[in-house]
Amino acid sequence: MDIRELVENILTKAESALQGVHDSQELENLRVRFMGKSGDFTALLRAMGSVSPEERPRVGQMINTARAAIQSRFIETARQLSLIEREHALALETLDVTEPRHTRTLGGVHPITRVLNEITECFTGMGFEVVEGPEAELDLYNFELLNLPRNHPARDAQDTFYIDDNIVLRTHTSPVQARTMLQRKPPIRIICPGRVYRADEADASHSPVFHQMEGLVVDEDVSMADLRGTLDAFARALYGDGVVTRFRPSFFPFTEPSAEVDLTCVTCRGKGCRVCKGTGWIEVLGCGMVNPKVLSLCGIDPSVYSGFAFGIGLDRLCMQRFGIHDVRQLFEGDMRLLSQFR
Ligand code: PHE
Repeated sequence: MDIRELVENILTKAESALQGVHDSQELENLRVRFMGKSGDFTALLRAMGSVSPEERPRVGQMINTARAAIQSRFIETARQLSLIEREHALALETLDVTEPRHTRTLGGVHPITRVLNEITECFTGMGFEVVEGPEAELDLYNFELLNLPRNHPARDAQDTFYIDDNIVLRTHTSPVQARTMLQRKPPIRIICPGRVYRADEADASHSPVFHQMEGLVVDEDVSMADLRGTLDAFARALYGDGVVTRFRPSFFPFTEPSAEVDLTCVTCRGKGCRVCKGTGWIEVLGCGMVNPKVLSLCGIDPSVYSGFAFGIGLDRLCMQRFGIHDVRQLFEGDMRLLSQFR
C-alpha cells in the first residue's frame, strides 16, 4: 500500500470514529489513538524513512495537510461536544421556580416563658441569682423542712401527686430555697423559677401543673421593709410607674408574718374593670418573713439571720398580660393560640 493510500485510510478511519464519539473522554482517547506519540500519524511520519528523497517533500506535505485537517476536525468536534455537555448539565440543574418551596417555620417563645424571662430580668437586675431544682422532689424539702410536717392540716392546701411515700411532684419551688439554705451560708439572694404541681381538677382557672417564681433573701437585719421595697421595685420594673403593691395579712407555715400581695390592675390602672372584677387590684403573690423555725430546720441561726420569701404565680400574670381567659390553653400547645404571641 503506498503512503497516499495509508493517509486516506487514516483519514477515513478518523472521520468515522469522530462521528461515533459521545463525550470528551472518548474524544481524548481518539486523539491519543491518532495523534499521540504512538498514534497512527506518528507511525506514518516514521515511515517517511523509506520514502525516496525526491518524493519526500511531496509526501511530507501530504501528511502535514492531512494531519492539519484531522486536527481541525478534532477541535470542531470538541467544541460541539462541549456545547452538548453544557446543555445537558443545564438541563440537569433546571430549577422549577413554580415548585412550592420548603418553608421553615420559626417558632416563638411561649407566653409563660416570656413572662418568666421578664420577671427573671427584674430580679437579676436587683442582684438575685437564679437557682433551679428537681420537679420530682423529696417530701423532706417540699414539706417537712418548710414547717409542714406529715399530717399537718396546712398540707391540704397543697395536695399533690405522690410518686411514693417520700417523693412528690413539688407543689411550689420553695424546696429549692430549702436546698439552697442547707448548702450555703447567708447572704442568700435567689429566685427559683419552675413548673409546680397540685392535685387540682383542671378548669378555666385551675391546672394541675402551673408555674412559679419564688424568691428568698437571707442576711443579717433583713426586715419586712426590705420585702416591701423589693416587691414595689419589681412591680414598677414590670409594669411601670404608678403600679403599687397592697399587702393583706395571710398565713403560710413557712413565713411569719405572712401576706398576700396585690398589684394595681394594669388593665384599668386601679379604676376597676372586668379583669380585676371591679376591685382595681390583682392578686399575684404570697410572701412573708421566713419563719425562724424554717431557718433553723435548714441550718441557719435565726438569732443572727432573718429573711423574706415570696412566691409569684406566673400563669395568672401571663393570662392577664396576654388576655388569655382559660389557663388550660397555656398547656395545650395549640398553634392557633401560640402563634398569636410570636
Ligand atoms: N410557696 C407558697 C405557695 O406556693 C408561696 C410563698 C412563697 C408564700 C414564699 C410565702 C413565701 O403557695
